[in-house]
Amino acid sequence: MSAGTALIVGASRALGLGLATEYADRGWDVIGTVRGDRRTGLHELAEASGGRVTVESLDMTKPEEIDALRERLAERTLDLLFVNAAVTRGNIPVGEVPTEMFVEVMVTNALSPMRVIESFRSLVAPTGTIGVMSSRQGSLALNTRGGQDVYRASKSALNQLMRSYAARYADTSHTLLLMCPGHVRTELGGPDAPLTIDQSIPGVADTIDRHGGEPGLKFLNYQGQPVPW
Ligand SMILES: NC(=O)c1ccc[n+]([C@@H]2O[C@H](COP(=O)([O-])OP(=O)(O)OC[C@H]3O[C@@H](n4cnc5c(N)ncnc54)[C@H](OP(=O)(O)O)[C@@H]3O)[C@@H](O)[C@H]2O)c1
Repeated sequence: MSAGTALIVGASRALGLGLATEYADRGWDVIGTVRGDRRTGLHELAEASGGRVTVESLDMTKPEEIDALRERLAERTLDLLFVNAAVTRGNIPVGEVPTEMFVEVMVTNALSPMRVIESFRSLVAPTGTIGVMSSRQGSLALNTRGGQDVYRASKSALNQLMRSYAARYADTSHTLLLMCPGHVRTELGGPDAPLTIDQSIPGVADTIDRHGGEPGLKFLNYQGQPVPW
């Protein structure tokens, strides 16, 4: 018996791989995505999972890859669609950021998750959850110290786009979540972050599971607390 089916976008390593592992441990069938055909930690997890975890390929900045995956999964029903993937490109003041870098971070972190959500929403069960990994760095209210200008702006844009999405589909029964995992030691979070993946991910999954079946959009952290917009 499966506890449900989750599609986790960006599950090759770090928090995404942690989330795939956590849901597999909780008895879910997990479809995780990686970029390209490079071997990743998700492949190891899949091989040890007895069929519970499967690996799909997706670079979410490529619309044709989103369409192809949507086609491959057309017969599946998802209880959880979770877009974890994002990039950062260093702490550069916005006036010095090359245009291509600004576009890359915005397209990856704000536009691409929304394209995935718009494409896959019809596969999500009526009682299912659509989640995206945001960050407290995307909070306008909490930005009193600045820094990480473009990454912050991309997560603020993501939050804003999810609010527009929630308004556009106001009658949806889906649970909509923007999640902040805390500051975690990964390539993106850096070596000085206070939390390990194991200190963050169980709380992220508990928070997702606790709000299952509740329609409406929430911005929550890994401890289940609301994050100010
Ligand atoms: N770590 C933190 O402290 C922290 C705090 C707040 C929020 N977050 C958020 O948590 C999420 C995961 O962060 P992390 O620390 O685990 O980051 P990470 O170690 O840099 O891993 C990023 C993941 O995203 C994937 N990815 C990047 N671009 C992609 C694309 N175009 N298409 C598909 N997959 C792509 C990467 O795949 P590859 O292996 O192919 O590169 C990798 O699996 C992100 O949304 C991040 O913004 C992290």
